[in-house]
Amino acid sequence: MDCARFIRQQVDELRESVGNDIAINALSGGVDSSVVTLLAHRALGSKLKTFFIDNALMREGEPQRVVRLFAKLGVPVTLVDARKEFLSALKGITDPEEKRQAITDSFYAGVLARLVKKTGARFLLHGTILTDIEETVAGIKRQHNILSQIGIKTEEAYGYTVLEPLKTLRKDGVRKVASALGLPREISQRMPFPGPALSARIVGEVTEEKLALVRKATAIVEGELTSCGAFQYFATLLEDRATGIRGGKREFGRIVVVRCMESKDARKATVTRLPWEKLKSISRRIVALPGVNRCLYDLTPKPPATIEYV
Ligand code: XMP
Repeated sequence: MDCARFIRQQVDELRESVGNDIAINALSGGVDSSVVTLLAHRALGSKLKTFFIDNALMREGEPQRVVRLFAKLGVPVTLVDARKEFLSALKGITDPEEKRQAITDSFYAGVLARLVKKTGARFLLHGTILTDIEETVAGIKRQHNILSQIGIKTEEAYGYTVLEPLKTLRKDGVRKVASALGLPREISQRMPFPGPALSARIVGEVTEEKLALVRKATAIVEGELTSCGAFQYFATLLEDRATGIRGGKREFGRIVVVRCMESKDARKATVTRLPWEKLKSISRRIVALPGVNRCLYDLTPKPPATIEYV
């Protein structure tokens, strides 16, 4: 792929589409939304308003880290605290697709629609990539960022037009464009992280207590495996409980699953053969978390499993 040409084309198209209007975008710090942010910053300058929406589902320190990193790149990012709104939308929901729907609604109809009104924007820029569209259209999983492809008319439903400059690229293409744009490796090679964020790492209802737990488990797994070179690694909190012993007493505790996968594009994935000592070290640290008394390593490839549990 000719990255320089792709960048030129998208910058020109964004300029032409947005004209003298304002565009907004939501940056998560993932490679897709980061590339959209930089392309649009080049194309639109101060006509672009970029927001990081803290939905309570982010990893440890993530909102501040992303805002700092883009400040260094010369792109101002406004942090929006929407934690309460997302947590109350997720309250009582256990079904995975309903959780995704609650997040979609809070994100597009709630926070973004309000930001569009406040900034007077007519356009929303989106990091949708080809794989998101294909998987959604095939009915495998409704990615939370798919709207027009499943018949949602955003102008009528939310009051803004969606532009998707990356919709012809797959992940490897986006990573190449990210490097060509000068994004640091920590972004261009960043491990995939699901749009529904840590809510995808909790089976069952999302609560603040479970989020705090899965956030700590995620930090342990990411810290331990950071140099393992795998495609994706993370922790998931199950809904089931198991019997254990803590302080000489019986405890009906929580179960955390660790997943570490090799893959090229997430369509198929195999399990990483991690060293036993590494697994023991992760397990020891995870069962030291309050209320957790089991740590499992999942050996199931995709298919028949998916990478995530939710
Ligand atoms: P699955 O679980 O379907 O995941 O094997 C495939 C890859 O996609 C990520 N994933 C998502 N990414 N929005 C995203 O942007 C989502 O709703 C979503 N769900 C899963 C997952 O982490 C894996 O890399």
